[in-house]
Amino acid sequence: MSQRKFVKHQCAEIMDASRLLILIFVVMSTFECSGSDTAELQCEVNSETIYLVEGEALYFVHEAPAESTLSNQTLKWYKNNSRIEYISYDEKERIHLHGGAIFFLNVVPGDSGLYTARLERQNGECNNYIVEVKVFEASERENHKLLYGEIKDSDQNKNVECPDRAKETCIKFGGNYTWYKDYSLLQGHHKDNMWIQNSSKQDEGVYTCICTWRHNDRLYNTSGSRRLYVLDTKSYPDVEILSPLNKEQFADESLELKLNCTVECGRNVKDVCTASWYVNGNQVNQMAGYNQTIKQIMEMPSKTTITTAILTIKKVSAKDFRAEFKCRGIGSYTAKSATLTLKRRASITSLVIRAVCVLLVCVFAAVLVKCFAVDLALLFRPCFHLRSHEKDARMYDAYVVYQMQKMDKVTENTLCQFITQVLPSVLEEKCGYRLFIQGRDDIPGEDHMELVENNMKQSRRLMVILTPGSGSGCEMTDQHPDSLCDSVIGGFDWQVGLHHALVQREMSVILIQLGDTGPQGYTHLPIGLQHLIRKSAPIRWPDVSRNAAARNSRFWKRVRYLMPATPAKRCPQSALI
Ligand SMILES: *[C@@H]1O[C@H](CO)[C@@H](O)[C@H](O)[C@H]1NC(C)=O
Ligand SMILES: *[C@@H]1O[C@H](CO)[C@@H](O)[C@H](O)[C@H]1NC(C)=O
Ligand SMILES: *[C@@H]1O[C@H](CO)[C@@H](O)[C@H](O)[C@H]1NC(C)=O
Ligand SMILES: *[C@@H]1O[C@H](CO)[C@@H](O)[C@H](O)[C@H]1NC(C)=O
Ligand SMILES: *[C@@H]1O[C@H](CO)[C@@H](O)[C@H](O)[C@H]1NC(C)=O
Repeated sequence: MSQRKFVKHQCAEIMDASRLLILIFVVMSTFECSGSDTAELQCEVNSETIYLVEGEALYFVHEAPAESTLSNQTLKWYKNNSRIEYISYDEKERIHLHGGAIFFLNVVPGDSGLYTARLERQNGECNNYIVEVKVFEASERENHKLLYGEIKDSDQNKNVECPDRAKETCIKFGGNYTWYKDYSLLQGHHKDNMWIQNSSKQDEGVYTCICTWRHNDRLYNTSGSRRLYVLDTKSYPDVEILSPLNKEQFADESLELKLNCTVECGRNVKDVCTASWYVNGNQVNQMAGYNQTIKQIMEMPSKTTITTAILTIKKVSAKDFRAEFKCRGIGSYTAKSATLTLKRRASITSLVIRAVCVLLVCVFAAVLVKCFAVDLALLFRPCFHLRSHEKDARMYDAYVVYQMQKMDKVTENTLCQFITQVLPSVLEEKCGYRLFIQGRDDIPGEDHMELVENNMKQSRRLMVILTPGSGSGCEMTDQHPDSLCDSVIGGFDWQVGLHHALVQREMSVILIQLGDTGPQGYTHLPIGLQHLIRKSAPIRWPDVSRNAAARNSRFWKRVRYLMPATPAKRCPQSALI
């Protein structure tokens, strides 16, 4: 039905035109009008719907041919609003034609309707362009029909372009842009597009671009809105296992242990990211002694989906140390797994035991060294022949001094035996030392002082034999007219010896204690001797010990240790004198 009306209308128009070929046209038109479908072939029909908000303006040019080639006479606009209303070129009208365009200024809802542009060409072809205009009241401005295409992509930075209608109007009239978001003004945006950098959910909304343009010295607004969506973009890279990173983990037997299986699946992929533990290839869900908890997080702001499965072994047992634990991560396209075995951790107690053992060994070694220092020194002595000794040309290895008087019988016997038998037999015969023994080696008749002085100089050690009560004085006793007892303690020999040892430091002193010290200790001895005793305790002669006389007894080892490393060279007897 509507098509017929159009055709009739077309015929009327053609008659209005009063052209040269009017008659033919009339005939043809009449024929066509009385006919049925042929009109559409002649007149191409296009249509479009435009939504506007009350109070705005619309500048509209229908499609080609280009405006410049049009003549006003061949383009007509009319509104089909129950009756046909032609649109005039009167600039005072709110809706008027201008050039090839139609202006709708300060539209009201009543302007809604079908508007048709009819274009006729010289050759008789014609175009009907139907525009349906729908004007919403200001209160309805959020109607979704007013929205142009929406922006819905995964770009991080969004470009919101002013919809074409507003933009073209602005270009045509040199208008200015204003931007609104969700119908409130956005300051500082005056371009035909708007960039939103690093968009987030808060940037979602309706973006309206208003073009303010001038026509006949008045300002009009044309707007266009788009809805922006910020999508949760997803990405599916290969699954990554963040934990475990090592193939082994230390564990304590019979304690609880938690194993961490953490996988990263990509961005925003929470539905397709799983992590789980397998023990010897079996899922742990129903296995006694194990408990698995799975948790998923989305890291912000990267939105990385990370799933963690924590396997709790309630009590680590021997079989766990043999088991293979597998952490398996499954993403949407890939899966990955990592295996883990448990290793016994050295427990604190075993560490302590080890430390104690080491300590004991050290202590033992120290004790050994301390106890056998003398033996070790003697053992290694031949290896370390000291040059100084070789150069040492002194004749005697030791000058032996002892108390000669004021001794009880037992002490005297012991001393005599020691001096005359034990000492020479061990040191001289077995060890090869040369001793100058006071009383034995003195040559009678010689100047005693000179002799002592010389021989003292020729000796490398001063051996002092201490007897109970030695040094207490010089009292001749009638019972002991022994030759050994000519000399007195604190006498010349001692003094010279101590002088050499202490002052000149030419010889070191070997102190040997026979028997007990007696109740007074060493306090009765000369000060110099007391000083030496304090420096190194005298070696006690173990009179009772049966092995004492042996060269390798403890006593002799200590004495030999203090004696020179190499015995003095045996010199011809003549040199001695
Ligand atoms: C006017 O509109 C009516 C209904 O929409 C339609 O039937 C009629 O053909 C139209 N007339 C013209 C001349 O476009
Ligand atoms: C656009 O803005 C410029 C500068 O602010 C102004 O000169 C011009 O008149 C404005 N144009 C319209 C159509 O408002
Ligand atoms: C046109 O838009 C401007 C800027 O958004 C606004 O200040 C003005 O009030 C609007 N005018 C009309 C008639 O809507
Ligand atoms: C598991 O391992 C991941 C990655 O190393 C770590 O971020 C997370 O905190 C761990 N979770 C637990 C409970 O140890
Ligand atoms: C596993 O552990 C969770 C949390 O530690 C606990 O709520 C749950 O009851 C445990 N399940 C079993 C079977 O022990």
